[in-house]
Amino acid sequence: MTISKGVFPVAGLGTRFLPATKAQPKEMLPIVDKPTIQYVVEEAMQSGINDFLFVTGKDKRALEDYFDHSGELERHLLEKGKTDLLALVRNISNMCQMHYVRQKQPLGLGHAVWCARQHVGNEYFAVLLGDDIVVSPKPCLKQMIEVYEQVKTPVLALRQVSRADVSSYGVIEGESLGNGLWRITDLVEKPDADEAPSDLAVIGRYILPPDIFPILEDLEPGVGGEIQLTDALKELLKTHTIVGYEFEGMRYDVGDPKGFLIATVEMALAREDIGEEFGKYLAELVRERDLQPDRSSK
Ligand code: UTP
Repeated sequence: MTISKGVFPVAGLGTRFLPATKAQPKEMLPIVDKPTIQYVVEEAMQSGINDFLFVTGKDKRALEDYFDHSGELERHLLEKGKTDLLALVRNISNMCQMHYVRQKQPLGLGHAVWCARQHVGNEYFAVLLGDDIVVSPKPCLKQMIEVYEQVKTPVLALRQVSRADVSSYGVIEGESLGNGLWRITDLVEKPDADEAPSDLAVIGRYILPPDIFPILEDLEPGVGGEIQLTDALKELLKTHTIVGYEFEGMRYDVGDPKGFLIATVEMALAREDIGEEFGKYLAELVRERDLQPDRSSK
């Protein structure tokens, strides 16, 4: 059986992005003109996911509204004859059937995944985090599902990060199987740089078995006082082989302002409609900046 259910935990507080996230979900912040969550939902759709469950929390209504019909807006666009825009907004609400479950308190990513247990039932499922956008010819999750179909075990997305950055991630210890595949032997959440078992970080795409739910149910809080998915995966290693996969593609960490800006600039430059003009503006801006005497002397 292949993977058809996608779980999207979107109940975090987004503290790295305050104050923007004080009263709106970080998943609704746009990269150019599209909310980050839509990039992730589109990746899931292109990977064959047809059942979408959002794990939401307080102040996340904007997300539900976004994927719903917007009667007033649609009427307005119809009356004004703006058929292109009308099609655009209708496509979003017609994209797919969304389901929602509420995480009553933001107790951690592991707890958010646990909230999906009834909806997921007894089958393998995918978890996609809105913090990570991956741009690649073949969608990242599709690459992972292809690996899953060969190995029939849990699959985690891996990316090499700098040693200085390992303390922001779950990091693996593993044995290389070639072709970007790793058999994971251990996992550590947010290790200190000098204690990290490798520089291979788990990023926000997972293919998980239902067996993760009873583990999450009994899990004690870990790093940061949160129920950590990494700790549950470590426990899962006792009964399952877990494979890590260094996927192909450009990954943007849009959960913090710097990564968000990088994604915005690169995706704007790649756009057919505005990329060229924006590129010229940027080049000019950089040239002028470099010509300033106080900058060029640094
Ligand atoms: P993060 O730790 O990156 O998200 O969790 P956060 O807590 O929202 O952000 P910061 O660190 O405070 O800036 C990774 C993913 O897990 C979800 C988040 O929404 C994000 O997609 N999450 C996290 C939950 O759904 N519930 C939680 O309790 C915690």
